[in-house]
Parts: sequence; structure tokens; C-alpha cells
Amino acid sequence: MQEKIVKMLQSEEGYLSGQEICDRLGVSRTAVWKVIKKLREEGYEIEAVSNKGYHLVNQPDRINQMAVRPYLNTTQIARDILYFDEIDSTNTYAKQLGEEGAKDGTLVIAECQNAGKGRRGRTWVSPKGKDIYMTMLLRPQIQPEHASSVTLVAALSVAKAIREVTGLESGIKWPNDIVIHGKKVCGILTEMSSEFGCIHYVVVGIGINVNIDQFDDGIKNTASSLYLEGGQPVERAPLVASVINHFEKDYQVFCKEQSLSGLKAEYDSLLINHGKDVKIIGIQEEYAGVARGIDETGRLLVEMEDGSLRKVVSGEVSVRGLYGYV
Ligand code: BTN
Repeated sequence: MQEKIVKMLQSEEGYLSGQEICDRLGVSRTAVWKVIKKLREEGYEIEAVSNKGYHLVNQPDRINQMAVRPYLNTTQIARDILYFDEIDSTNTYAKQLGEEGAKDGTLVIAECQNAGKGRRGRTWVSPKGKDIYMTMLLRPQIQPEHASSVTLVAALSVAKAIREVTGLESGIKWPNDIVIHGKKVCGILTEMSSEFGCIHYVVVGIGINVNIDQFDDGIKNTASSLYLEGGQPVERAPLVASVINHFEKDYQVFCKEQSLSGLKAEYDSLLINHGKDVKIIGIQEEYAGVARGIDETGRLLVEMEDGSLRKVVSGEVSVRGLYGYV
């Protein structure tokens, strides 16, 4: 009932009478009053004026179920949400849920992580209450070799959500870093459990630097946040929901076609490497070429000097601009 009342108050610009809430929910005035009291204890600022009703003045900046759900319009992803004030890593927890048989689409969100994981064994610094740390548990009916494409689908949804919620134009640095003005504002870590020919589950972990306002010396030249790039604080709950809403739509296209063919054009339009000189750094070799977009499996097409195309598989290499991070 708490969530329903919050949703009603959020969609009412003026005052909502206590009687209206009672009628819509079929509950007593006392029950409504108890919920309002509980919401106030949780940090919701709700004005009550006699003969007018309730008005939501302010809500706490949390990314829990109650804050996120009103903005969601999905049918499959995030029907189940698990929220933590603090956790080791949302990916680690989502993998545990995967082992325990949790539902496809389960979403894990945390206010802070004390063992946040980045790609290539790096740590992901995850301070409390400022940014977004979330992981989706998925059980796609696709071949394990196509699972890495899900990361590109997630990158596309994050870029679109950032634009929708903040108006900021971000780009994708292949395969899945989200970049604004040349600096990384989001990283995605996809992990999978599979056996030959069959995926048990995939977890897609998304870390978005939202309102963090400073970075350590080691990363401050390449990392930034939506706050630093846009100049104003960003409400996190609508952003979480927008990522999920976009992801569900794009993921359905991907699963139906079992490839990125339906998303490739949009992905390429956001790809900051597109048409640029890139340096591909593999374990065995290093080479340079011009990035020409992705193919339907998410490989980066790199045109070599002799005109031939090399298809670069993510995970095996890192990509740099010739003169720096992008
Ligand atoms: C990268 O190195 O670019 C990937 C970073 C991924 C960070 C996110 S935060 C939520 C989820 N939980 C983790 O431990 N990592 C991912």
C-alpha cells in the first residue's frame, strides 16, 4: 500500500484528499494515516492541509523499490527488486540468486558496495547514496557465445536513459563504457554461468557515476559523473527505471532476433569510436585501424590500412583512441 500511495502522491501536482486515497485503495482513513506517518519517518516530506488533503513536497533520494517502481513500465525486468543499503557487490549477490533459482529479470540495487567489481579484476569504487549500482539477473534462451552482446544492449539503454532523464548526450566507447565529453560515466560488467550450449544465467551489472563530485587522482582524467558534466544533481530513481525500461524493450528485440541486427544502427549512431582511429591492444598483439561500427554479434569492425576488415571480439582486447582513453 505504501508504494501505491507514493505513486498517487507523485502523480498529483496539487493536493490529494485522504478520502480519495481511501476510495481508490478501499482502505480506512486510519490505514492511510498510518502509511503517511511511516513515509514521513522514512524521509518523505508530506504536507497535510485540512479540507485539501496530502501533498508530496519532497522525497528522500533513495533507489529502493518504492522510489523506483512508480517510474517502471516493464513486464519482465525488475518485477522482483532486491534493495540493499550496503552490499559487497550487486553482481556477486545476483549470481548467488541465479544459483538459487531466482526469477529471470530480478533486479538487485544497492546504495553502496564495499567490494564493487570492475572489468579485468579491477575494483569499482562505490560510495554511498550518490551513484547507481545495480545488477539484472537474466536467463536468456540464447547460445552462450552470444551472451556478451547483452552488454552492448545494456550500454545502449544506459545512453538512452541518460539522454531521457538528464538531456545529456552520452556516447558508447566500444563495447560498453558510457562516455560524456571524453570521460567515463558508467561501466558495465556482465558475468555468466553456462555449460556447453546452454546458459544458466547472465548477470548484467551497471555502475553509473551520478552525483559523485570528485575522483581519485588516478582516474580523474578519465572518469566523470552526470553531475559534473551536466552541472546539476540528478535524481537517481527515475534514471534507474529509465535504464530498465529501455533495456527491456531492446533486450526483447535482441532475444527475438538472437542478434544485434535490430539495434546495430542505433548502437553505431552512439558509438564514439565510429570513424575514428583506434588502437586495439590484445594479449598477443597490438594494431591500429579505423573503427567502422559493430556487426550483428557486437564485434567491432576495424578497417586496416590495406582496406581489409578485422572483427574484434570484446573481452579479448582493450580499445584506445590513438591519443588517449577515447
Ligand atoms: C567496468 O569496469 O567498467 C565495469 C564496472 C561495473 C560496475 C558495476 S556497479 C554494479 C555492479 N556490481 C559490481 O560489483 N560491479 C557492477
